[in-house]
Amino acid sequence: MITKIIAHRGASKLAPENTMYAFELGYKLGAEGIETDVQLTKDNIPVLIHDETVKRTTSGTGYVKDYTYEELSKLDAGSWFSPEFRNARIITLEEFLVWIKPKDLYINIELKNNKIDYKNLESIVYNMLKTHRLLERTTLSTFNPNSVKRLVTYQNNIEIAFLTSKKYPNLVEYARKLGANALHVKYRLVNQQLMEQAYEKNMPVRVYTVNKYKPMMHCFNQGCDGIFTDVPYKALTFRKVFQYKKKL
Ligand code: G3P
Ligand code: MG
Repeated sequence: MITKIIAHRGASKLAPENTMYAFELGYKLGAEGIETDVQLTKDNIPVLIHDETVKRTTSGTGYVKDYTYEELSKLDAGSWFSPEFRNARIITLEEFLVWIKPKDLYINIELKNNKIDYKNLESIVYNMLKTHRLLERTTLSTFNPNSVKRLVTYQNNIEIAFLTSKKYPNLVEYARKLGANALHVKYRLVNQQLMEQAYEKNMPVRVYTVNKYKPMMHCFNQGCDGIFTDVPYKALTFRKVFQYKKKL
């Protein structure tokens, strides 16, 4: 088992997160998967942006849900990061799927519905993945337990991850009861007990956000299925070091 290196919001240390620049760079640098965040516009278009508001990562203000996609697509989503990215735009989930389809990349779509529980987000995203025939290599994840429960109706052909940064007496059991078949957890939750419990239930464990050497090594040692990292190039190098040491 080899820990997959997944570009978190794309190669988000080098390019503005969740934009084509960050995805393209993640791919070119050798990442094995891409994680991205999805929210819903006023006209029900799934778009890739981390925050519920556009303030931090674009030239605009206000909530994503109050913009039509047409309005949203005019915002500059790159200058906040660096002036050379001023042409970056918020893209739709559909554009992303068209881009990723011919590439050999694992996909993680995080439904950002824990603060605003967007109506029908689950079915809109699911149906789009189905149309593009991308269900088999995609994990849908969410911090929202109710959303996991709603996703369970599609369980037979999609991986559903419960996302959490919180400690539970028995996280694996809790996630299983919701209906999740994978776990995406914050780094500090990873330990041998969790890994053993998850392994026993056949649940992959992926870890966020792993940017530094020590946590990377910890995840490799624990046999995590994947790490979400802003620095995929660095993680790929460290994984080589880890594999080399293991052979000594
Ligand atoms: O999906 C893993 C990770 O992205 C969850 O946290 O806030 O970076 O979206 P966040
Ligand atoms: Mg995310």
